[in-house]
Amino acid sequence: LDIDVSSEGGNATSGHQYGFLHEDINNSGDGGIYAELIRNRAFQYSDAFPVSLDGWRPVDDSTLDLTLPEPPLSDVLPYAVQVKGVGLQNEGFWGMDVRPQKYTGSFWVKGAYDGTFTASLRSNLTEDVFGSVEIESKSVDDDWTEHEFELYPDTAAPNSNNTFAITFDPEPVPPTYKNRKNGLRIDIAEALAGLHPSLIRFPGGNMLEGLSSSTWWDWKDTLGPLRYRPGFQGVWGYQQTHGLGIVEYLDWAEDMNLEVVVGVFAGLALNGDITPREEMQPLIDDALDQIEFISGPADSKWGSRRAELGHPDPFPLHYVEIGNEDWLAGGSEGWITYLEYRFPMFLAAINEAYPDITVVSSCASTDGGGWDIPAPAIGDYHPYREPDVLVEEFDRFDNDGPHIVGEVAATHPNGGIGWDGNLMPFPWWMGTVGEAVSLIGYERNADRVPGTFYAPVARNMNRWQWAVTILQFAADPAMTTRSTSWYVWELFARYPMSRTLPATAEFGPAYYVAGVNDDTGSHIWKGAVYNTTDGADLPFNVHFEGVDAGATAQLTLLTNEAGDPYAYNDPYTGVNIVHSETIPLVADENGAFSFSMPQLSVAVLATDTS
Ligand code: AHR
Repeated sequence: LDIDVSSEGGNATSGHQYGFLHEDINNSGDGGIYAELIRNRAFQYSDAFPVSLDGWRPVDDSTLDLTLPEPPLSDVLPYAVQVKGVGLQNEGFWGMDVRPQKYTGSFWVKGAYDGTFTASLRSNLTEDVFGSVEIESKSVDDDWTEHEFELYPDTAAPNSNNTFAITFDPEPVPPTYKNRKNGLRIDIAEALAGLHPSLIRFPGGNMLEGLSSSTWWDWKDTLGPLRYRPGFQGVWGYQQTHGLGIVEYLDWAEDMNLEVVVGVFAGLALNGDITPREEMQPLIDDALDQIEFISGPADSKWGSRRAELGHPDPFPLHYVEIGNEDWLAGGSEGWITYLEYRFPMFLAAINEAYPDITVVSSCASTDGGGWDIPAPAIGDYHPYREPDVLVEEFDRFDNDGPHIVGEVAATHPNGGIGWDGNLMPFPWWMGTVGEAVSLIGYERNADRVPGTFYAPVARNMNRWQWAVTILQFAADPAMTTRSTSWYVWELFARYPMSRTLPATAEFGPAYYVAGVNDDTGSHIWKGAVYNTTDGADLPFNVHFEGVDAGATAQLTLLTNEAGDPYAYNDPYTGVNIVHSETIPLVADENGAFSFSMPQLSVAVLATDTS
């Protein structure tokens, strides 16, 4: 295949093509990227998840009882545990990784106790105590006192089957990503940062919508000291702490240099509750408050609250999404009310107050039977598809108006069973190459697709609801597994283009996009091969106009070491089936770079710059 790439024409990109959606699903927040080690740390509860001692057990023959002390620790955390005997321990999120590093923590005590507490990290299986610290009691009879501590284990535990014990109730937190207080678990954050992302969409996803109209993810409940965070009735089968709150998400974006797409609650909950028109104003005001909290000046009402919480500088904010998949929950009424008043009310209010913010509808132009998204708003498309369908949709945005692709992944095997069948057990190679084809299709239309988000990003192997995620993990960092899709998304994001360039357009079984990075001067070609007719390798000659004979380039080629198109990266065996090879190339006398790609492969060609 001879591909000529022009030096002029094409379209500017947004500069932030690849990212991910994070919501707390699969314990990817609590028990995942949120570094807190203690499960059920504050006995939080909701209608769906009653208060319990889940995660806790007595040390030796102590007894533990849930109580409603007077006064409570705070209005939003009324429950405490009463310990009779020597202490209590917490088994964490199915184990704890213990190594010689600093763990910080704090616990609150009510009751006169004139002694010391001992906090320790210890084995669940043996008598081994890996580290402990004594904390002098400051507690008094009639009020709550906080006790802070640092704990340094002397040795690493041989496995993650460990507990945190105390002769009372602290919360050990290991070192966090970029050393943020109440921050992110390092290995998971590093695996995500390794994707070279430039976008994050939060807080969902279904999590934003909540199970009912009184239980949506209210950002105001997530502010300030943990003592004042009530927790959240999660939508994925477990109570959440609200520890990963809006500030933690914004710090995360800042630490990874991510453009934010923040979702605001739009009056539709997963059970189909719809906010009537006459009750919408408080929701609109709340969204405006949220925008001001994120991006308003430090002397504005909500900007000053952010400043009080330690971040006087506004966070950049260019995209606000109204709801999540508003064509789905609530049947036709959900969709009709979105078109008739819910979306237009948000759009008008945000356009007026923040003309520089792009408002994103939570639906695509083809959702709900199709609609014209009112400019200047843009749409959001969520293709969870079979790989063949992702490939069929390669030209989906050739003629359609601007959309983010707010959630995308190959989820089901080819065969047309789709949502009537299960998701695949993990991202698998053929699905990953199907994703690559769709990503190329989006990047070819980068003027119409300002960003693409993998979703959902992570899965705790001990409790999950959605199998196909770009990362898998458990308490033991050795389980943290980059899926086959991780390698493709990483490769494509590693080579950002500032402009696409027109190129020969003959697609199938080869799919490709070309462009240039104006910062580095590198010419870039991204390609995938999907479904060759005879299974033979495909030869390519790629010529960039203006790049002459003798120029050099690197081709990074990803192939499937296992051969089987259903092969995946397995967290239990650690086997990585993705073979990555970097091949130096020199342009021939015609200025073309020649190489070949096998069936089901993905590559990036980038010219060297001096
Ligand atoms: O990513 C998992 C779920 O899929 C999201 O919560 C929802 O938006 C979509 O349907």
